[in-house]
Amino acid sequence: MALLAAGHEAVILDNFSNASPMVPERLETITGTKPIVIEGDVRDRALVSSVLEEHQIDAVIHFAAKKAVGESTQKPLMYFDHNISGFVSLTRAMEDQGVFKLVFSSSATVYGDPEQLPITESSARNHTNPYGFTKLVCEEMMEAMCAAEPRWSCGVLRYFNPVGADASGLIGEDPRDIPNNLMPYIAKVAAGDLPEIQVFGDDYDTPDGTGVRDYIHVSDLAKGHVLSLEALERDGKGHVVNLGTGQGVSVLEMINAYSAACGQSLPYKIVPRRAGDIATCYADPALAKDLLGFEADKTLEDMCNSSWAWLQNGKV
Ligand code: WQD
Repeated sequence: MALLAAGHEAVILDNFSNASPMVPERLETITGTKPIVIEGDVRDRALVSSVLEEHQIDAVIHFAAKKAVGESTQKPLMYFDHNISGFVSLTRAMEDQGVFKLVFSSSATVYGDPEQLPITESSARNHTNPYGFTKLVCEEMMEAMCAAEPRWSCGVLRYFNPVGADASGLIGEDPRDIPNNLMPYIAKVAAGDLPEIQVFGDDYDTPDGTGVRDYIHVSDLAKGHVLSLEALERDGKGHVVNLGTGQGVSVLEMINAYSAACGQSLPYKIVPRRAGDIATCYADPALAKDLLGFEADKTLEDMCNSSWAWLQNGKV
């Protein structure tokens, strides 16, 4: 989670349950500024309150949550604790300290299986797994908070499929065990850590039969967070926006793009569909452009090249 003081000086609060201790040092290399990092848990209201007060924080970007759909179906209570109790602890601490600007990491998962495409922010919401449920609950809690206390302004960012790594090759995704998500799985096959890619079904109603998603580069996602924060400061009111490219990419297209990035043919096998998967999901990105001036500009090639560079140069 990033706690922001005036002028966007950031204080990082992280329990490092899913992040390398090398990250702060690498952030310093990338930005030239040594970040203030506090090891702790967002569920610790007293700690969060003291950090907000000590560092004169005036806005919070909240990423501190569990995010694996499959894991959430196996461990729902852990997801409710981290993602919902953590949200409540954080916002109670913010209220304690009079901090009412919040940028929140939500997800396209709140749309469930979309009824129409592309997906707009007014599309029906639904949850199809405990992870998606926690994001939906937090969104509804923010609606109630803002209705009860007008000082709250919340930037709700519905991520589509974040992929790629920082251009420096020093920070990126580093799953500790076998990845659930497509790109990190492909990356591990490219690196020789896994034997072949399993393509979950080629019988969907899509151009090549494989699942289609809206992949967005993590650097574009980061840009969206800064623009969201600036909009809260500028407009004094919140927003709910999709962060996606508006382009759908299939599993086979992703495999081909990654093959080009790593310079090798990647072995894959068509296997049965994964339970809970939907055929197609991609954003209508117009509202984020209208309200925040946000537009994703990284290409699929950038996503794959940055992931491959991270694998080769930066992994811890
Ligand atoms: C993408 C496509 C799979 C792995 C999830 C969460 C979502 C968000 C992003 C947090 C699908 C196929 C995958 C593999 C495959 N996370 N696939 N073989 O399921 O779209 O979204 O992660 O916000 O909330 O739901 O992402 O990368 O798991 O799957 O064929 O080994 O790749 O079937 O079509 P998904 P994914």
